[in-house]
Amino acid sequence: MEILGMYPTWYDPTLGSGWVLGIIAVIHVLASHTSVGAALVFAWLATVAYQRKRPELLEYVRRYGVLLLVFSYVLGSITGPGIWFSATVASPRGISALIHSYVWVWATEWVFFVGEVVGIYALVYLANKVDQKTHLNLVRYFAIASWGTMLIIVGILSFMMWPGQQAWYTEGGTLNGFYGPYTFGQVITRTAFMLVCAAVVGGIIASRITDAAFRQEMTRKLALLGIVAAVAGYFGLQWTLTTLPEHAREVMAARLPDWFVPSLWAVLGVTVAYFALTWVAPRILTPWLSVGMAIAVMVFGIWPEETARESLRKPWVAGQYVYSNQVIGRDVPALGVKSELPLLQAEGMLAVHPFVPAGLREINDENKLEAGRTLATIFCTNCHTLGDTGMRPIKRYIAGMDEEALQAYIGGALTLGASPHMPTMPMTEAEVGAIAKFLTSPGTQSVAEVGALAKFQDSPGAH
Ligand code: HEC
Repeated sequence: MEILGMYPTWYDPTLGSGWVLGIIAVIHVLASHTSVGAALVFAWLATVAYQRKRPELLEYVRRYGVLLLVFSYVLGSITGPGIWFSATVASPRGISALIHSYVWVWATEWVFFVGEVVGIYALVYLANKVDQKTHLNLVRYFAIASWGTMLIIVGILSFMMWPGQQAWYTEGGTLNGFYGPYTFGQVITRTAFMLVCAAVVGGIIASRITDAAFRQEMTRKLALLGIVAAVAGYFGLQWTLTTLPEHAREVMAARLPDWFVPSLWAVLGVTVAYFALTWVAPRILTPWLSVGMAIAVMVFGIWPEETARESLRKPWVAGQYVYSNQVIGRDVPALGVKSELPLLQAEGMLAVHPFVPAGLREINDENKLEAGRTLATIFCTNCHTLGDTGMRPIKRYIAGMDEEALQAYIGGALTLGASPHMPTMPMTEAEVGAIAKFLTSPGTQSVAEVGALAKFQDSPGAH
């Protein structure tokens, strides 16, 4: 029989694999966004310093550069591979899809990144050692390399959400997938958001300037930048939202909680108020206030933004052809990729998944619960935890359904793909019965039980 190219499922019972990835990514986004934003700020300050002969501005740039080296570049370098590792185990076929189409684009991004790292070292350690014009060029080079990394990543992120042109499915072509109608809205929004991050983190350095007049000037410069960037980011986001495909808007309307839009306003309001306050009374700015604000940006800005972006492309994880649960749900003739749904419909997942324990290939009365657990792990845990903590705990969603009701729901809506935010998940009747039994059996979704499954799968002869 045909076996699908599926991988073992990595499942973290407490948080859910998506949240583990999300936590690593949020730290990474703060580090990387601050760095790119700061690079643009450096280019601006260095230009003013050069034209108006203001060496103290260059000293500010140098000190901020040192902070980036020990903060952004260390944290960024630790969390960057962390994203790769966690994404690869959480979503091996999603990563594979991206690599198949974009490995050279990623290589290009890496070249820009190397340029960025060389740039930050050069502008910090060559300050006051090379002539001013050369230093200015180094700072500008750093800005271009930094912004370039973002430009490339945004292209890949928007492909992940939706290939730029429909033609990509039939003709392929890197650029057909890379640039879409909403790529540039994202570029503007992200650039603005990066400047907000840079203005917040820049406060750590500004608040420690000893010369009172210069401290006030820098604090106000950052405040003004922060306000302009926050407002620009808000309009950029509104524009991006209007460019989203119909399906994403449906998912948004159905999924985003009522408080999402008011909370966007609240985040914008607090950010603008923070900068307005530091503009009016620059003396209140302390390193700790800046650090506190940076953490707030991470928790109230980056986490909701990244989660919303991730939610928008549900149920797909990449290119609208690989589902979050790793099943390929549509043909991509350009890549010779075929939908796996017909095979699943005919044979069921247990028969064609390479990592299903041998004893579970066929469901009987003895193994029904185990089979249900395996199916739930494969089909559902990329988006739901099976317990009651972490990411969309499935118990909460099925509360009130008994086995029969759940069986009807899974056998109907889920196998037919009637939900806009969940994949089409074809299963045999026996599989539907097993998964419904498992999900409604009291206590079976506990962490210890799931741990037992992992052991069972690892046992000799299991594969
Ligand atoms: C692609 C990710 C994804 C997968 C895979 C997935 N779900 Fe969901 N599921 C969601 C989202 C998103 C929601 C909506 C959550 C919300 O509104 O807060 C949801 C909601 C639900 C609901 C509530 C009813 C509804 O339609 O909103 C149930 C029940 C449910 N899921 C069961 C399952 C089961 C059982 C599986 C596995 C067989 C599964 N889900 C797999 C993403 C997924």
